[in-house]
Amino acid sequence: MISPQKHIRSVVRGIGSYLPARSVSNADLEKMVDTSDDWIVQRTGIRNRHIAGEGETTSTLATAAARAALDDAGLTAADIDLIIVATSTPDYTFPATATQVQAAIGMAHGAAFDLQAVCSGFVFAVATADKFLISGSHKRALVIGAETFSRLLDWSDRTTCVLFGDGAGAIILEAQEGTGAISDRGVLTSHLRSDGRHREKLFVDGGPSTTGTVGHLRMAGRDVFRHAVGMVADVMNDAFKATGTTAADLDWFVPHQANRRIIDASADKLGIPHEKIVVTVDKHGNTSAASIPLALATAKADGRIKPGQLVMIEAMGGGFTWGSALIRW
Ligand code: ACO
Repeated sequence: MISPQKHIRSVVRGIGSYLPARSVSNADLEKMVDTSDDWIVQRTGIRNRHIAGEGETTSTLATAAARAALDDAGLTAADIDLIIVATSTPDYTFPATATQVQAAIGMAHGAAFDLQAVCSGFVFAVATADKFLISGSHKRALVIGAETFSRLLDWSDRTTCVLFGDGAGAIILEAQEGTGAISDRGVLTSHLRSDGRHREKLFVDGGPSTTGTVGHLRMAGRDVFRHAVGMVADVMNDAFKATGTTAADLDWFVPHQANRRIIDASADKLGIPHEKIVVTVDKHGNTSAASIPLALATAKADGRIKPGQLVMIEAMGGGFTWGSALIRW
């Protein structure tokens, strides 16, 4: 006789975030490059961003977010057996930033590794952690998006330096038994895509195996914009199809925070009302893999996201990579 199927779900147990103290406004940038608050706000919706200070690195930001998530969950490092850090700005070429977070929180068991999918990194990390948890191999995962993009920017290039910021966000996913229905709490579905033919549109012009340097971020902004909306709409539709849900079922839409115009156009394409969108790009800029967990933490802290609610996350970034995940909080 076939035993009844167990449905393990990866349920959000806690969330935390960290932003560096140094806050940089558009007016501050006007003093550094030929730009204006008007131009930046109109084209991107960004008004402010945080920049890591001396002594702060991706792992220190990630560790602060991880500690906040552990506190929120009422757990300690002993309760975690997997750490995934999504980042494109690791402390070092190796070891993985995740191992530095592991050491900093006092954890010497389990496994820790980095995942690199640029701005889509957090969605890729959630999907990866979910696969580990539902397989039964691990019980609780710290899933972190952390970046110090300020260290990759060409601060003389006004077309890119005004867009990005630093920060970190973390969630704890815990394997819990569900029913298999979409009323279950946890990650209900995830959809990941990539297409390496788009490298030239958004890349860093250095690396250990090419130039032997770190390099600077380069972007053909218009080309990225042109692809972004269609790509994220595709993977959100995949999530709706896989779960039999529609945009009307969403409580919150928490997109990657790159640009207000991309966010609004994506929501409009899918018929998601603007009052359901969580927007933090105005305050944080584009923090790449950190942007979604920072936005989730903001909306959880101010009481918008509540247990049982249906939350869509999505992102698109360098590669290109893109993906979505539907989570019942
Ligand atoms: N301040 C003032 N003027 C500027 C600035 C600036 N910071 N940057 C560019 N300009 C000028 C350009 O030089 C150009 O001047 P010109 O007409 O005299 O040549 C003019 O503004 C228009 O430039 P465009 O690049 O065509 O401006 P566009 O309307 O496309 O906006 C932007 C640029 C904001 C980058 C837009 O293309 C965009 O948002 N693209 C998406 C890219 C993105 O968000 N990437 C993030 C990483 S990927 C991701 O996270 C999804």
